[in-house]
Amino acid sequence: MINIAVFASGNGSNFQSIYEATQSGRLKANIALVVCNKPDAYVIERAKACGIPCFVCSPKNYENKEAYEEAILAELTSAKVEFLVLAGYMRLVGSTLLKPYKNRIVNIHPSLLPAFPGIDAIGQAFDAGVKVIGITVHFVDEGMDTGPIIDQQAIRIEKGDTRETVEAHIHEIEHQFYPAVLNELFEQAAVK
Ligand code: GAR
Repeated sequence: MINIAVFASGNGSNFQSIYEATQSGRLKANIALVVCNKPDAYVIERAKACGIPCFVCSPKNYENKEAYEEAILAELTSAKVEFLVLAGYMRLVGSTLLKPYKNRIVNIHPSLLPAFPGIDAIGQAFDAGVKVIGITVHFVDEGMDTGPIIDQQAIRIEKGDTRETVEAHIHEIEHQFYPAVLNELFEQAAVK
């Protein structure tokens, strides 16, 4: 089974859904490590409760981005991680990780990319008044929410929706969609 690391910076609800999918067998993968760049992020508690090792690393404790990512790479290597899954990891990935994990880093973003990249995509979409929003899973490159798109799901904004109801709906769909897309990706890689 493929060994993955989940990268997160906050609540970690997507980590939780990925973990649960691995437990139920809907996602044939093993989470070997969680990587978190925020020492107060709730995902750390979630990882602990699931018994998954968590590497917590503040970029400010390192001389530069390269040193920060080298520290992460050392943990990934010792945990024999083959694939990186970004789930609410709010940092750009640099070449220190992109090179060794070429075509093996994916991200989920709460918009129909290339629309609304970056922070608060749901708020951006809501403020723009769009009627269809959605979710994108894509391969990661050096850009902000760029890289080849793997799959997307659209969600219609209904009359009476608020930013809060839309956000809740997006999260609910992400929790089904991301594990399913990952499983398909890993199955395809296995038959190649
Ligand atoms: C998710 O909605 C994810 O799509 C988004 O952060 C949230 C994390 O929630 N990611 C991005 O905006 C990436 N640019 P979680 O911590 O509860 O999983």
